[in-house]
Formats: sequence, C-alpha cells, structure tokens
Amino acid sequence: MNRARPSRTRLLATGISMALLAPLASLAQAAPPKAIGVKTVSATSGASKAQSLNPAQVRARADALIAQMTPQEKAGQLITTFYLPVPAMREGIERAAERGQGSFLFVTDPKETNSLQKIAIEKTRLKIPILFGFDVIHGLTTIFPVPIAGAASWDPAMVERNQAIAAREARAVGVHWTFAPMVDIARDPRWGRIVEGAGEDPYLGAAMAAAQVRGFQGPALGAADHIIAGPKHLVGYGAAEGGRDYDEVNLSDSELWNVYLPPFRAAVDAGAGNVMSAYMGLNGVPAGANRWLLTDLLRGQWGFQGWVVSDNEAVKNLKTHGLTRTQAESGALALGAGLDMEMSTLGGAYARLPQALQSGAISQQQLDDAVRRVLEAKIRLGLFEHPYVDEARAAKVLHDPEHLKAARIAAERSAVLLRNEAGLLPLDRTKLRSVAVIGPLADAAQDALGPWVFAQNAPPSQSILAGVREKLGDRVKIAFAPGVKIPPRLHPSPFVTLTGEVRRPEPADDAQGIQEAVSAAQGADVAILVLGETQDMIGESASTSSLDLPGRQQALLDAVVATGKPVVVLLMNGRPLDLKDSKPGAILDIWYPGSAGGAAAANLLFGDAVPGGKLPFTWVRNAGQAPLYYARLNSHDPDGANKRYWNEPNTPVYPFGYGLSYSSFAYSNLAVDQAKIAPGQRVTVSVDLKNTGGRTADEVAQLYIRQRTGTAARPVRELKGFQRVTLKPGETRTLRFELGDAELRYWNTITKDWVVDESDFQVGVGSDSTTALGASFAVTRR
Ligand code: NOJ
Repeated sequence: MNRARPSRTRLLATGISMALLAPLASLAQAAPPKAIGVKTVSATSGASKAQSLNPAQVRARADALIAQMTPQEKAGQLITTFYLPVPAMREGIERAAERGQGSFLFVTDPKETNSLQKIAIEKTRLKIPILFGFDVIHGLTTIFPVPIAGAASWDPAMVERNQAIAAREARAVGVHWTFAPMVDIARDPRWGRIVEGAGEDPYLGAAMAAAQVRGFQGPALGAADHIIAGPKHLVGYGAAEGGRDYDEVNLSDSELWNVYLPPFRAAVDAGAGNVMSAYMGLNGVPAGANRWLLTDLLRGQWGFQGWVVSDNEAVKNLKTHGLTRTQAESGALALGAGLDMEMSTLGGAYARLPQALQSGAISQQQLDDAVRRVLEAKIRLGLFEHPYVDEARAAKVLHDPEHLKAARIAAERSAVLLRNEAGLLPLDRTKLRSVAVIGPLADAAQDALGPWVFAQNAPPSQSILAGVREKLGDRVKIAFAPGVKIPPRLHPSPFVTLTGEVRRPEPADDAQGIQEAVSAAQGADVAILVLGETQDMIGESASTSSLDLPGRQQALLDAVVATGKPVVVLLMNGRPLDLKDSKPGAILDIWYPGSAGGAAAANLLFGDAVPGGKLPFTWVRNAGQAPLYYARLNSHDPDGANKRYWNEPNTPVYPFGYGLSYSSFAYSNLAVDQAKIAPGQRVTVSVDLKNTGGRTADEVAQLYIRQRTGTAARPVRELKGFQRVTLKPGETRTLRFELGDAELRYWNTITKDWVVDESDFQVGVGSDSTTALGASFAVTRR
C-alpha cells in the first residue's frame, strides 16, 4: 500500500471565512512580566512529567500566571481559531500568536506547530505555549473505520487501542487536543453526523464514549503520546428536527436524561479533559447560553474539572439565535454560562471580554476561572517544559506499520454481514477463475476513508479493487466496471476542498456503464458490487431526505442481480441505505473502512477474516420511517405497532444489534441467580453460548431487559450488557452479566430524580435486539 504524503500544494483553498485574517485587535501588548516560574526547553518526544503533578500544584502554577496577566492576555487564552496553513492566512495568524492568542485548530504539520510555538515562546510576554486542537476523529494519517463502524465492532477495548494510536500520531505532530469523541445519540439516519457517533443506543454509546476518552487520553491527563479528548456536542445535537444538520432540537426531559446525556456522563466519568458544547438550540436555548447545562449539571453534578469549548462560531451565533444584540453581550452571556473557550474566526466575541470585564458584565472571578482551566490543561500536557515536537520522529510515528495493521484489523472487526444466502460468503478463491468488481465506489480510495479525513494528513490508500487484486494475484481474472457515476450533491459540501477532492458534475453515460457492468458480471464467476455514498455525502453538513443509493446505483444493482450470477454487495456507508427489494446473494457492510479497507474487505470476502460486527442502529426501510429505534415505549396499541403506516410495515429491514457470521451460534441455559432482589442489590444473568458452525468466529452476545411496571412507562427493551467473544467450532462458553442499580435505574420526569422501581424485570441474552426475554427477576422492598 502506498501511503506517500501528498505534496502540500494539494492543500486547501477553503470556504472558511477570510475574516480569519482580521487581527485580534484587542489583544494589546502589556508590560514585561515578573518571574513566571516556568522554564522552557526545546524538542520533546511528548514525554511529560506534568501528569504526576497533583491538582493543587497545577492550580498554584496556573494562578501564579493569572496573577500577572492583563485582561487582554486572559482573553487571548480563551480563544481558539482555525489556521489552515496557507500563505493568505499565515500573517494574520502569526500576528495573533504574537499578541498571545493561546490556541489554534487545524494545524497538523509539525513544522507549523513548531513555528507558531516559537512565536508564543519567544515573542510573547508570558511565554505561554499554544494549545493545538484538531478533529482527530478516526485517525490522523492512519485512518481507522469511521466511528459508527467502531461502534459496530461492539469492541470498546479495540476502539480504545485505535484512538490511542490516533492520539500518538496527533501528539507527534504537535496536536494536543481532539474534538472527539462525538457521543451524540443519533436515531434519525437522515442526519449525516450519525457516522461520527455510536448510533442509537445510550448503553452502547456510553461504552464507546468512555473507551474513546481512555484511548485518546491514556493513563492520565497530559500523558506522553496522548491528547486531551473533548466529547461533543453537549447536548442533543443528534436529534436535529427532520435530521437537518444545525436545526433546532426539542427533547423531552426523559429523552434528555435517559438517552442523550448518558454517553456524556460516561465520557466525563472517564476523565475527559474538555467538552464541546453544541451549536444548536436545545428546547429553545443554545448551549452557549445554558448555565444549567454547562455549569450546574456538568460541573456541579458531574464534577467536570476541564474546560468547555464552544462549537465553531457558536458564541457569536448567540446573536444569530436572537439572544444578544452585540458580540460583547454574546461573550459575556457565554462566559457566564460556563463556556470557557470560544472557537471562532479571529476577532470573535471573546476578544471583547476585557470590555465586558470593565463594564461589569462579567466578573474577574469568572474570567480567571476560565483562564485557569485552560492553563491547567497546558500545564498538565507539559507544554511549558516541552512546547516543540521532533519533526523527524513525527514522520516515523505517522508511518508506523503497526498502525496500519491495527486499522486493517479494525475494519475487519467492524464489518457487519447483513445477508448471506446459501452461504455465498466467504468466496472460495481456489474455485474462482474470474471475478467482476463493479460499482462507482470499488476503486474510490478517497471515499473509503470517510469524512473528517484531509488530504494533507492522509492520502488515499487502498481501494477495495486494489485490495481484491492484491489478494487474488494473477491467478484469477478480475474485470473492473464502475457501472455508474455518483452525481455530485445539489448543495456542495463545505468540506470538499478540505478533503482534497472537488466533485464536479461529469457527463454521465450510466446506461452504457450499466451495460458494461452487466457484461463483466456475465463473464465472471461472481460479481462484487461496491455501492454507497461518497465521502462528502455523510458527516457534518451532509443530511439527506432520502436513503436511496445516490445516482443510478440501484439500477446498476438490479441489472447485475438480474444476470443470475452470484452477487455480493459491499456497502460503503455511515447510515442505513435503502436497497429496495433487490436480493443480492450477500450484503456485507464495510462502512468507510479506512486506510487498510481494501485489504480488510478482501480478507472478509475470501474468508481470511470472519465478520462479527453488529448494527449500532435500526436499519430503516426508507427515510419515511425515521426516526425508528428498538427501545421504544409500548404505546396503548402494541398489537398494531408494526402497522402504523397504511402502506407498508414499519418493522425495520434489520434490527438494532443484528449481524450474521460465517459460523452460527446457539444460546441456551439462560438463568438469573436470584428471583428477587432489593434495590441496591445485584443479580447475575448467565447463558451458554455455543459456536455451532464450522469456523472460529466472533459473536456479540447482547443482554436486554424489560421493566414490566413502574412509576413511568419504560421501553419494550433496553440493552444493558454485551460481550464480544471468539469461539472455536463446537466450543461452548458460559457468559455472565451483572445487573444492579446502575443498569436498572432511570430518570423519572415527575420526581426529577433517578429511580429504581419495584418491578418485575424480564431479561434475555441473544444475538440482536429481537431476542426472546426468557428469564425474569423482581426488584422488591418486601
Ligand atoms: C464544527 C463541528 O460541529 C465540530 O464537530 C468540529 O469539531 C468543529 N467544527 C471544528 O472542526
């Protein structure tokens, strides 16, 4: 696989506002400092002693600095600005660094991070190093499968390891902080950002949130080779009305507490050093103005110690939302709500904090508290001692072959086998003479990386076609036919220029392309179709009103299936797609599989890897069904639950938790060790899982409960445990799951508190969310 770095001239001309170039006028120079109690040394491996500092020491160091800072210098620490290293932006950014701006985002070239640090260290009065942030979402140079795929692995330990690798690469180039994980629950696949999270379920979402925070941050905040995690977007963003990105969110109290907040709580409990607040209004109040959310809940109830950053321009947009008249008011409102740092173009609302202080709109204490949180992060990261990175080492870290191997394993473990008629998969390569590889995404190495991947960091690596070719060598004839072209978006993605790929409308001759694909399939033993959405059709600003395959891919699929040849569909997607009634022999969801996607897909197709992933969302039939999720309430008419629409069933195509294997599994001997417990006590649920097929394979055993009665209506089932296990053919293992208050409690909207009701609970363990609930126990005080 060739992963040479592309020339930097391919880099970016972006749609991001030229206001970036405007000077941060109010960050004025001030008198020279007194001793600041920190010394700087040069390059570093990223090693840091800071993590051994205790909170009191860290605070004392931060306070010593704060005591010397002017209001302008304080404001400078509370702003982070996009810097895309293009000449047009350089000057304005360098001036901002000279004036003491404390943070930039999107700088990922170690030369650039070092040169900006040099300005901060050598040209600013207090020599406070810069904190660099970036969207390290699923890798920096080594790209892992997209986060929804990570969730589909149901393997938090693997996800943790992969984010540790992502962190290692990021830290090596001088990035200290990631705007990740995205822990927004998404129950509406029209919302493009469903790809960035863990799907619809709060239990799975919380497990993935905590795993990612641990992976990014390592053993302690500031640890060597790790970065600070910023779970986002607090809170509710995934419930945008109509799935339309950025639109209003209205959530009931019960949904907020029981569904949308738990992954954030898990991320904070895992020690996240940062939190990003959401853009949009939640029940009418944008996060940046919501003191209850950012202060009372996050800090007061949850004990969050880090700093809160806004989403991009979200402070200035308090004016757009209609809460403030001026940017000075926006800054004061947000800081007062508990939002410590503004992400903005140069000249944001927080540049006006000194005036707000002078007018009494904010207090000295509020300003200092925010600055302290940011400085504490810099101290813990060891930036005062080690502001620079070693550029030669960075190059080595980015191309560590072990990273690529981990990416391949992740892609294999994330894949979900959705359909496999008559055991079509795995293909037996010893019997194949010819294969047709078909589809517009078959040779689309860039698309295979998924969103939040930028050309300057991660060049396209290996397409699916290339992976199949590498696997089969010369022995098997491979015909390639793209079939159709995927037309561009009606409204172009703001990211296309950043990803290095500008999609222009091309004259489509799809009819001829489909004919060529049909001929290729007719001449082959098997057709492998790679279909889905392009990289820019998923992610931020990529909502859609239709889940159909874009362009004429459906016609291509139908025509190839009509040849009667065995057809395998590989889906490249971050949300459920509507394949209509077509019935290919097999469907394998490979998501956006990342840097090693070609090799992983080939291993899965030919049986060198066995799919074991499970869906982290309910696969709706079409967009008209959304939102649809398994953990629904029973309603007063459960018998009609699947007949709510007069024109079609409203059952999903595939339920949450679903996924097949090349082997088969059987569950037996489900048991609960106690018939009755009191609140606060625990039961152990056990089940025997047997591999009844002929291959060593993984199964994700999922435990669901149903609370039968209580002080509120509870979902028809809820995931409360899972284990991914590997079993040899014929092997049986007894799995055990514990259930106690943490799993049985829920937020009651009447008492406005967590409750564990006295109730009967049904419980089941099985291979997806439709599993029978064959055992029970009771929680009772009697
Ligand atoms: C806006 C996105 O909503 C957020 O997720 C991201 O981290 C920032 N932009 C920075 O790129």
